Amino acid sequence: MGMRYVPAVFLLSILSLIAPVNAQVLSRESQVEPLTTSAGDPVRGRAIVASRQTGLCLLCHSGPFPEERFQGNLAPDLGESAARLSAGQLRARLVDPSRFDPDAIMPAYYRTENLHRVAPKFLGQTILSAQEIEDVVAFLVNLNQQKLQ
Ligand code: HEC
Repeated sequence: MGMRYVPAVFLLSILSLIAPVNAQVLSRESQVEPLTTSAGDPVRGRAIVASRQTGLCLLCHSGPFPEERFQGNLAPDLGESAARLSAGQLRARLVDPSRFDPDAIMPAYYRTENLHRVAPKFLGQTILSAQEIEDVVAFLVNLNQQKLQ
């Protein structure tokens, strides 16, 4: 005991000072950890993706939705993206695509900062809730697993 532990304590206190900066750096990484503790529901996720009210994904993307006649061709096929990206990478793209491309046309579905021209009643709101993001991620991950079977 004694002096040997002083540097460690000192280091920890320095770390806690820079922690906020650290968190910001992490949030720009290409993977995002689950937003909720409860698992996503792929059935609800599919409904969100296909919905013309909430997800609107098929405005731009195509995917394995035989019942949907009109699907977008502005963006990668969701089945192909799910095959290439991990759950954390898929989540990161949903949360905020502008992290990967500042000119991304895809909306940020779970971002509350740096939004411009937001009507006061929508301030602090996200397009999808944390649980809805998890549902969509579960659906996309599931797509990939079905294909492997
Ligand atoms: C307004 C058009 C638009 C909408 C709506 C949209 N996206 Fe996208 N999305 C894009 C475009 C374009 C890209 C390609 C990268 C970029 O420019 O943002 C993309 C990229 C992605 C990627 C990464 C693809 C890859 O292979 O790298 C995923 C995953 C994704 N979108 C999922 C979704 C889901 C799920 C929804 C609905 C909740 C959605 N997107 C809604 C346009 C859209």
